Amino acid sequence: MSRLPSFFVDLVLALAPTRLLGLINHPALHDALGRERLNAAGGWINNVFMLPWRQRRARLAPRDEETRAYLREHFCARPFHTVETTHTGLAFVCCPVWLPKPIGALALEPEALWNSATAREIRESIVDGSFRHCDHHTCPLIASRALLSRASAQARELIAQHRSGAPAPLPKHVILSHDKSCNLACPSCRSGLYVANKTQQAKLDDLLESSILPLLRNAEEVVITGSGDAFGSNHFRNVIKRITTGEFPGLKIHLHTNGQLFDERAWRELSLEGHVGGVQISIDAARADTYANVRRPGNFDRLLKNLAFVETLRARGAISHLHFSMVVQTANFREMPEFVILARDHAADLVSFNMIRQRDVFSREEFVQAFIGAPEHPEHREFLAVLEAPELKSRIVGWGNMDAFAPSGTFARETEHADRLPA
Ligand SMILES: C[S@@+](CC[C@H](N)C(=O)[O-])C[C@H]1O[C@@H](n2cnc3c(N)ncnc32)[C@H](O)[C@@H]1O
Ligand code: SF4
Ligand code: SF4
Repeated sequence: MSRLPSFFVDLVLALAPTRLLGLINHPALHDALGRERLNAAGGWINNVFMLPWRQRRARLAPRDEETRAYLREHFCARPFHTVETTHTGLAFVCCPVWLPKPIGALALEPEALWNSATAREIRESIVDGSFRHCDHHTCPLIASRALLSRASAQARELIAQHRSGAPAPLPKHVILSHDKSCNLACPSCRSGLYVANKTQQAKLDDLLESSILPLLRNAEEVVITGSGDAFGSNHFRNVIKRITTGEFPGLKIHLHTNGQLFDERAWRELSLEGHVGGVQISIDAARADTYANVRRPGNFDRLLKNLAFVETLRARGAISHLHFSMVVQTANFREMPEFVILARDHAADLVSFNMIRQRDVFSREEFVQAFIGAPEHPEHREFLAVLEAPELKSRIVGWGNMDAFAPSGTFARETEHADRLPA
């Protein structure tokens, strides 16, 4: 990562880096400058400006005495067993938003990456109870007081291992998010279709042999993917093919997909039988016209056909957990009750709702229009009325980042990043 004078970084941060990223994502600029250059620029802005900004936000956020006391008594195992790759070429030991300090470049040799000075320093901050690299406000495990007790057997074992000074064993839980290629361009996520071209894919495939597969040597679960689509990315299809050749018998794949390309043929071609644990399918709608709007250019009939196939996988135990998710926004909130029925009809174990988040792909005005959670939104009262529907009290419903809206007595838990939680 290039080093810039801190006053310059502060100046640009003051000018709002999200605007810069928003500009980079503008389709007109894509046409004019070419996607490869813009991707490189986007990665650079992210690493040089956004990361220091998030790190500073995490460092400077006010920390109350009650939270400090809670953290001194608790422990988080994630930096000891989880690694997440990103499309900017850096690796993290937790979600890069909650713990924005990278442990190093993905291209490093896996043992060196996993035991880098920064990785050790992050683990030390958990062991000493300060959690100083974690954002105490955005981390849902801190906010909802869901951390492990420091006195638990798992915490004591990891603390002892860390204090021994021996290299930490390679991660058990790997989240692959280093390719954004996807067959859809959902307006909540991106402003246009993105699929890696041949050169980019060749670079990613090189990484597969040199870094990704070695990083999976000790893993029990690999999540594919939080960045693009498990089936829409040729690179991730190659990763899956390599994993299912038999080289990783103890490793389960957790698929996170829009489901458009998840059919019997893909299951067979990728030799997925016996290799998949959980599946999360993001759907965001219960009706064809809404689906066509929020999951462009997705086809609802094709989705339903694929869901029928996935249901058979769940019924015969070929997958152990099925999760349908919806990003709740103005365009789809009326369909929340029907979405629970759709999930129930397809044998889903979990149906989760997460409120749409601001991203650099849409303007502030577009976000205000889509963010139905705001009391001043003109349709907010109607949204609150929809939340009263009996379907939403089902025990398979999880409320992700929408705890505040969960009907009383229902199941409220962190599901937005359920794929980041090891089983
Ligand atoms: C980026 S996608 C990658 C996996 C896969 N392509 C999919 O859609 O499930 C990961 C998750 O982010 C969610 N998502 C997309 N845009 C969002 C937004 N603006 N706010 C909150 N979640 C969002 C998607 O619905 C999906 O569940
Ligand atoms: S940010 Fe939260 S989940 Fe991540 S390591 Fe810190 S406490 Fe654990
Ligand atoms: S399917 Fe997933 S990765 Fe693709 S555009 Fe939609 S939310 Fe983003």
